[in-house]
Amino acid sequence: MREDIKEVLLDEEKINEKVKELGRKISEDYKGKDLLLVGILKGSVVFMGNLLKYIDVPCSIDFMSVSSYGNNTSTSGVVKVRKDLDTDVKGKDILIVEDIIDSGITLKYLMGHIKERRPNSVEIITMLNKPERRKVDMNVKYTGFTVPDYFLVGYGLDYAEKYRNLPYVGILKDEIYQ
Ligand code: IMP
Ligand code: MG
Repeated sequence: MREDIKEVLLDEEKINEKVKELGRKISEDYKGKDLLLVGILKGSVVFMGNLLKYIDVPCSIDFMSVSSYGNNTSTSGVVKVRKDLDTDVKGKDILIVEDIIDSGITLKYLMGHIKERRPNSVEIITMLNKPERRKVDMNVKYTGFTVPDYFLVGYGLDYAEKYRNLPYVGILKDEIYQ
């Protein structure tokens, strides 16, 4: 797999440091709250699994799966819920866990969907953020890394369902997806 990667953007050690720092912040900010982490499948699983270990306030977890119709490397704007929440979120403090925010369309939709169920609060944490590509406005409470506009894989991020298992975030070579 390494030969398909143009450059390692964030190595495992750097990501780990950041995840620890984010876990500490969340633990402070959510003291005394009813925290529910909602991971967006499948890209967030590696980040979510790692982040969980560094949160030391009581919390529960749930997952949602959505698909957005578009080509392989960008979102079209049409979002469909494939797996909804199992948890009743009324009164809970929700933190949506994403791998990467690109156009922001997926999350914008999800925020609306979750807010309708009257949680106490809804915030977003993303491992990676590509603000250059944003098409809709949104407030992101926690960001791991702001990244340039490259197609990235690894640490949960895929291209055609592959590369999720890379322990780092890398830039995929153009010839792989062109
Ligand atoms: P958005 O709705 O355009 O913000 O799309 C966000 C989703 O697109 C992410 O949760 C990823 O699944 C996917 N995505 C966006 N950029 C990348 C990338 O560089 N590599 C892999 N997946 C990406
Ligand atoms: Mg995703």
